[in-house]
Amino acid sequence: MSINKIGVIGAGLMGNGIAHAAVAAGFDVVLVDSFPDALPKALATITKNMDRQVAKGSLTAEAKDAALARLISSKDVSPLTDADLVIEAVPEILSIKEAIYKSLKDVLKPEAILASNTSSISITKLAALSGRPDKFVGLHFFNPVPMMKLLEITRGLATADTTYQAALALAGKLNKTAITANDAPGFIVNRILCMLLNEAIVALHEGVGTVESIDTGMKLGANHPMGPLELADFVGLETLLSIMKVFHAELGDKYRPSPLLIKYVDAGWYGRKTGRGFYDYASNPPRAAL
Ligand code: NAI
Repeated sequence: MSINKIGVIGAGLMGNGIAHAAVAAGFDVVLVDSFPDALPKALATITKNMDRQVAKGSLTAEAKDAALARLISSKDVSPLTDADLVIEAVPEILSIKEAIYKSLKDVLKPEAILASNTSSISITKLAALSGRPDKFVGLHFFNPVPMMKLLEITRGLATADTTYQAALALAGKLNKTAITANDAPGFIVNRILCMLLNEAIVALHEGVGTVESIDTGMKLGANHPMGPLELADFVGLETLLSIMKVFHAELGDKYRPSPLLIKYVDAGWYGRKTGRGFYDYASNPPRAAL
């Protein structure tokens, strides 16, 4: 099936990046978010990020205007009746995702594909909840979506070959490299990465090193472009905690979330998006907050 119109539900960190990448690749996109402030904020972010691309010369001003003209936003799912693909990027909470799928049941056309950007929840489980398991697939993008080259594709038990082939074709059109992961918690990348991020927080909590020494150690010692604490702040500490809880329940004790991570989330210190995590983003450049 050819994909022309894409719905993106959830206009947060990932949703605005997915919408940006999709309109830049020529798709018509409807960006949906039920929270009043989210849509203007997402549109401002997309515009700012495209302006940056124009300034760098990787996008022309005409292409930017054409891309933005392909983007519309909506507070509900009603404009998705003719969408060929809908990508859900709402928070990593099963009940929220389930409610979204329910609201789509009478809206989507029969042949439409539904995808989740989930980081850790079983695609087979989400596919069953969606009521369209053959047309359901995991499309796991990476942040920031317009820059990151990877798309991790996961089939649920009942995902049809045609759905999987459409996902592979989409990756090509978005200029992403696709890898296929089996439907196991965290797929390939997060299963490995989130354990590293959580372990950095455990090391900080146990006083093995400071924020700076842990991040500098992993940047210079393991050649990582970002330190794990900086990266955890970038991902969002509440998102990391949700993921670790799923891993802990499904993969066992080696994935137990750090008590310090739980404390930060309880405090509302979610990282970059709230201005405070392991770094304080009120200062420029951000400085270690401990
Ligand atoms: P976020 O919290 O930045 O954005 C979620 C958005 O969903 C918010 O704008 C919120 O207003 C909206 N929302 C909440 N309930 C809604 C509803 N009922 N209807 C419509 N919109 C609703 O979260 P983020 O980080 O973008 O994560 C979204 C998904 O992407 C999660 O499943 C997460 O695990 C996954 N993911 C996150 C990555 C990251 O680096 N943060 C990377 C890859 C995947």
